[in-house]
Amino acid sequence: KPYAFGVDIGGTSIKIGLAKTSGWLFETRKIGTPSDLSAESFLLSISEVIKQRIHARGLKAADFAGIGVGVPGPVDEKGVVHGCPNLGWSEVDVKGILSRALDIPVQVGNDANVAALGEMWQGGGKGFSNLVMVTLGTGVGGGVIVDQHIVCGQYGSAGEIGHLHVSDTESEPCGCSNFGCLEQYASATGIVRTASRLLCVHPDVPSILRKAAPLDAKIVCDGARAGDALATSAVESAMDQLGKALAMVSCVVDPEAYVIGGGVSLASDVLMPPLKKAYRRYAFPSSRHTAFKQAVLGNQAGIIGGIKLAVADAKGNKEK
Ligand code: BGC
Ligand code: NA
Ligand code: ZN
Repeated sequence: KPYAFGVDIGGTSIKIGLAKTSGWLFETRKIGTPSDLSAESFLLSISEVIKQRIHARGLKAADFAGIGVGVPGPVDEKGVVHGCPNLGWSEVDVKGILSRALDIPVQVGNDANVAALGEMWQGGGKGFSNLVMVTLGTGVGGGVIVDQHIVCGQYGSAGEIGHLHVSDTESEPCGCSNFGCLEQYASATGIVRTASRLLCVHPDVPSILRKAAPLDAKIVCDGARAGDALATSAVESAMDQLGKALAMVSCVVDPEAYVIGGGVSLASDVLMPPLKKAYRRYAFPSSRHTAFKQAVLGNQAGIIGGIKLAVADAKGNKEK
């Protein structure tokens, strides 16, 4: 079976990649994440796009080794996701729903775990046996690889780095319902929130961010690059929280490298220096020199990892 699909379900967009099982990705579709559909209708709309792409290419379901799907929440052994903070989903049987709609084997994993798999296969993680992938997007995701295997944990929640508790003074709840999660500060939305707060608290500090409506993470990072003081302080504060969290992660798994991906990581030139500085300040001495790398596959790590997940399963290799 020469083909596979990789699907990356995110808070702002869904990416669907069509590839040869060798890993050659030859088509990518991006659609906006619908906010008005139930989880089931949402997944069925993805299965419709998949059927349509199979048909448009003159292929049939039997040509496909599998479909690997990354979803933004903890996924258990059965392919059920237990809550997606940024999609507003509670428990959803992703594997069951997609398997019933499509005549192709479906594998489901956490989006950041799947992205880590993609980076290890074709990207910045090649050659590393112990690494942690961090995705900075609508949320903050983590994929922990130890001895070349993704660590899933008992409930699929190993690597939920975005929900490490980093602040005791937060008054708004995180999408997970706790208060003070890393994701509230270091995600795209978190960076914007910090910048907006700074703009309010310092009404007389001039900033190019005041002209931006609506503000987004790219504008804040561009501002920091251009030397805007307020944008710089928003970025530094986000990276301080992230550095602190990763120093804690190192105390548990001590990886060789952190691979930073997700949409926000496209601004790695402004993020990496304050991130490394913060990490080194908080890290346990023997873990102070862990490498930091930008994800090579950028926004495609998720779909490429999805393809890997589908192919590994077709070969009888369980990797989630
Ligand atoms: C979810 C994770 C996910 C991350 C990135 C977090 O809010 O809890 O499971 O990996 O967002 O999408
Ligand atoms: Na994860
Ligand atoms: Zn949280």
